[in-house]
Amino acid sequence: MTDAPIRIEGLGHAYGKGALRKQVLSQIDLSIPAGEIVIVTGPSGSGKTTLLTLAGALRSAQEGSLRVLGEELRDARRATLERVRRRIGFIFQQHNLLAALTALQNVELGARVSGKHGAAERRRAAQKMLGQVGMGEHLNHRPDALSGGQRQRVAIARALVGRPAMLLADEPTASLDSHSGREVVDLMQRLAREEGTTILLVTHDNRILDIADRIVHLEDGRLQTHTESVIAQNRRMMDTLAQVANRRDMDAMVNDLDETGFHDLLEGISEESRQFIDATARAGDRAYTSLLKRGLFAFTRKLAGMLNADRASLFLVEGDQLRLVVAENLDELGEVVVSVGRGIAGAVAATGQPIRVADAYQDERFNPAVDRQTGYRTRSILALPIRDHDGHVFAVAQLLNRRDDQPFDARDEERFAGFMASIGVIFESFRLLTDKTGTREGTRS
Ligand SMILES: Nc1ncnc2c1ncn2[C@@H]1O[C@H](COP(=O)(O)OP(=O)(O)OP(=O)(O)O)[C@@H](O)[C@H]1O
Ligand SMILES: [Mg+2]
Repeated sequence: MTDAPIRIEGLGHAYGKGALRKQVLSQIDLSIPAGEIVIVTGPSGSGKTTLLTLAGALRSAQEGSLRVLGEELRDARRATLERVRRRIGFIFQQHNLLAALTALQNVELGARVSGKHGAAERRRAAQKMLGQVGMGEHLNHRPDALSGGQRQRVAIARALVGRPAMLLADEPTASLDSHSGREVVDLMQRLAREEGTTILLVTHDNRILDIADRIVHLEDGRLQTHTESVIAQNRRMMDTLAQVANRRDMDAMVNDLDETGFHDLLEGISEESRQFIDATARAGDRAYTSLLKRGLFAFTRKLAGMLNADRASLFLVEGDQLRLVVAENLDELGEVVVSVGRGIAGAVAATGQPIRVADAYQDERFNPAVDRQTGYRTRSILALPIRDHDGHVFAVAQLLNRRDDQPFDARDEERFAGFMASIGVIFESFRLLTDKTGTREGTRS
C-alpha cells in the first residue's frame, strides 16, 4: 500500500514568540488518500491558509507530525521542503501570474519549477495544458489582457503542468463570478480525476462544496467534520440535534419542551434548515442525514404527544410508492413500502387532501398490511399531505389513535397542519440528503 500523500497527526502551529506567541492550529489530524478531493472551510482567521502552507511545505512544521508525499516535514531541512514543494501545484485566491509574462510563459515557468522537462518539452506541455483549460486561443496574452476567470485558468494550467502529485488551492474562486467559479472547479476536478491528483482546497464558497469527497472545517485552529461545522453554524437546530447521542435522549429532550418552546424550536429549525438545504444537500453528508433523521423522529413523536395521539409516522412519496421513514421501531421493521392510492396514506398522496378516519377497520381505504407488518392496531387516523415548494405532495404525515379513543377532530387537524408546515421543510432537506447520499435502507426496483 502506498503512503497517503498527506498524513497529518497532532499538528500544531504558532506564530510569534514569547508574549506574542499565538497558537493558530492545534491537534490537527487529517489523512488524505491519493486522488481524494478535500475541502477545508472555516471562518476568517481560523487557520486555513496556515494549514495549506504547512501542507505545501511553504513553512516548516513545529508540532506534531506532517508527512507530505512520503516525507516528514516536522523540523524538516530547507532542501526537503523544496523537494516536496516542487511536486505540488499551488493555486491562490489571486492568480499570482507574472504580469510581464504571457499566459504561455507563465505556464512554462510552472513546468520549469517542477524540473521535469527540457525547454522544448516545457513549451509543448504548457501549450497542451493551456488548451485543456480552454485557453488555447490566448497563449500570447499577458494577464492584464485576460478576464479574472481566464487568469485563474492560466493559474490552474501553471499549477498542473508539472503533473504535481498534489494540488493545493486557497480560495481559487474568490475573485470569480459564480459561473466562472463553477467552470474553474469543474476543471480542477476533471483534471485531478484524470491524473489521480490529490486536492486540498480552501473555500468559503458553498456552491462548490459538491466537488469534494470530504469536507472538513476549521474552527479556532481545530479541525471538525462537516457535520460538526453544520452544527456550529446552525446553533439552534444542531445544538438540538447534537446534544443527544441517540433517539431516546432526543425524545426526552424534545419531550421536556412546552408547546410554545416546541413551536419556537421548530420555527427556528425550519428556518435554518431552509438556509442549509443548499449547502448540506450538496455536501451529501451521511452523519448529518442520520442526525436529521433522529430529529425528525423526535419531532414527529413530540407532535403525536401534544396532539394526544398514540403514534405518528411519516411516509416519503417516491414515484408511485410511499416509503415509511419515521415510525416507532422502524429500525427493527426493515422497509415498509405501500403503493400510492393504497391505504389512507396512499389516498392522501393520491388526492392531496387530508383524511380523518374514526375507525380504520371500518374504512375501505384502510390497508391493514402495514398493521400486520408493524404489529400495531390502528383505530383512528389523521393523515396530512406535506408539500414541497412547488406544491407537489412529497410526503404524508399520520397521527394514529387518539388516546382518549375519540376520533381526531377539525381542531387536531388544524394544529397538526400548523406544525407540519415546519417539519415539512426539515423533511424536504432530509429527502434531498437521502437522494444525494443514497442512505435509503434496502433496495427496490
Ligand atoms: N505570518 C503570520 N504571522 C503572524 N500571525 C499570522 C501570520 N499569518 C497568519 N497569522 C494569524 O494566524 C491566524 C490564522 O491565519 P490564516 O491566514 O491561516 O487564517 P485563514 O483561515 O486563512 O483566514 P482567511 O479566511 O481570512 O484567509 C490569524 O489570526 C492570523 O492573524
Ligand atoms: Mg486564508
